[in-house]
Amino acid sequence: MPMHLAAFLIAGNAAHSQGLWRHPASTPGGFLQLDYYRHVARTLERGRFDLLFFADRLAVSTRYGEHHAHGIAVGDQDATRLDPLPLLGALAAVTRHIGLGATRSTTYSQPYSLAREFATLDHLSGGRAAWNVVTSVNQGEADNFGLEQTLPHDVRYDRADEFLDVTHKLWRSWQADALLLAPDGRYADAARVAAIDHAGPHFKVRGPLNIPSTPQRSPVIIQAGSSDRGQDFAARWAEVVFNIQPDLARMQRFYDDLKGRAQRFGRQPGEIKVLSAVMPFVAGSRAHAEELREQSNALADPLVGLSTLSSHMNVDFSAHALDAPLADMQVSGIQGLFKLLQEVSSQRQLTLADAGRLYAQGVLVPQVAGTAGDIADWLEHIVAERGADGFVITPAHLPRGFDDFVAHVVPELQRRGSLRRQYSGRHLRQHLSRPA
Ligand SMILES: Cc1cc2nc3c(=O)[nH]c(=O)nc-3n(C[C@H](O)[C@H](O)[C@H](O)COP(=O)(O)O)c2cc1C
Repeated sequence: MPMHLAAFLIAGNAAHSQGLWRHPASTPGGFLQLDYYRHVARTLERGRFDLLFFADRLAVSTRYGEHHAHGIAVGDQDATRLDPLPLLGALAAVTRHIGLGATRSTTYSQPYSLAREFATLDHLSGGRAAWNVVTSVNQGEADNFGLEQTLPHDVRYDRADEFLDVTHKLWRSWQADALLLAPDGRYADAARVAAIDHAGPHFKVRGPLNIPSTPQRSPVIIQAGSSDRGQDFAARWAEVVFNIQPDLARMQRFYDDLKGRAQRFGRQPGEIKVLSAVMPFVAGSRAHAEELREQSNALADPLVGLSTLSSHMNVDFSAHALDAPLADMQVSGIQGLFKLLQEVSSQRQLTLADAGRLYAQGVLVPQVAGTAGDIADWLEHIVAERGADGFVITPAHLPRGFDDFVAHVVPELQRRGSLRRQYSGRHLRQHLSRPA
């Protein structure tokens, strides 16, 4: 059952697993060094992943206790994040095939500069750039960019729609054959380079872009919105959609919903790849894999999780008692994830502290522990049952988390014909459009 694979990374101390930086198998402080990322990127390319991508946020956590000290002191998910785009530029130089994705916010960027950043990456990587479009939910980010408050939810998506419209116009402002480089002195055919003259409620941009048409023409668009409006946005623009769902039934619901929406926007369902997040623990025996899972989860501190949760949900959870239930709480941040957390909490009768621990373990990403065969079975089953087109593999620790997956699970998937043995296309969009 062919599947697509993306790797989830944060250019910092954590991933979904927030004990990552202090896991005994992680390289201490490696996340500040290029060698660490080079090793990870080359490993993933050896494992024939479609792409690696860096999540991002534009603030340390400030909601929990309304102060940055809490998240910084314990190293929560937002404590350190290098800027992913310069990092991807460096990784483009040490890889040849793997797609390179970075998160950028439509609320805190300008279309012209963002179009340049991704056009540059697409040229320098030979057609491997991807943009994870986020609208940014959190007050700490607003505080860093001169807004009193985050924009209201639907205004964020209005701005994002216009942002995507403008950037796509900019990426097409040079026709593919406009650059001439003719020995007689004609640099480019000016008739094939046009201003875009965009004027809308949020942006006014003349264009054209100051970068010729790139190998992919535009970066692959990734999105992970979970609200109704967010899923419409994904159905309209995205080529890859990430989601976090704890079980097959929920994955299937999300998958069907999104593919149906895509059709309503005049797109073929196959044009959008839905990738579901999973955290694997692989070992030679199930018992050993379970031990690895327990070792990782034991590092999850409820306060680390609650600090991250406060940042994701834009709510100060320190205002609630640690033994309070989550049932009645309202949030303005990532509502889909919070609803899920409430459901899981009421099923398992979790307190706020338990929910914090769970969140620190992996932001509700399902964990799968077993032999390479077990993990391959699990992944194949999800794809066969139309729960996903592939997976966002998220590591419990680094770089060993990906070393182990690529050494053991990847060959098993390849043996079964579920994962490419070689890259066949040159560009990321080609990896995604061909059976893996
Ligand atoms: C796998 C995954 C990765 C995400 N990465 C980021 C990220 O890097 N930065 C960010 O601000 N939000 C990130 N999000 C949040 C979403 O982009 C989105 O803002 C959130 O789900 C709220 O959207 P909604 O209002 O449509 O529900 C991520 C979500 C998921 C499921």
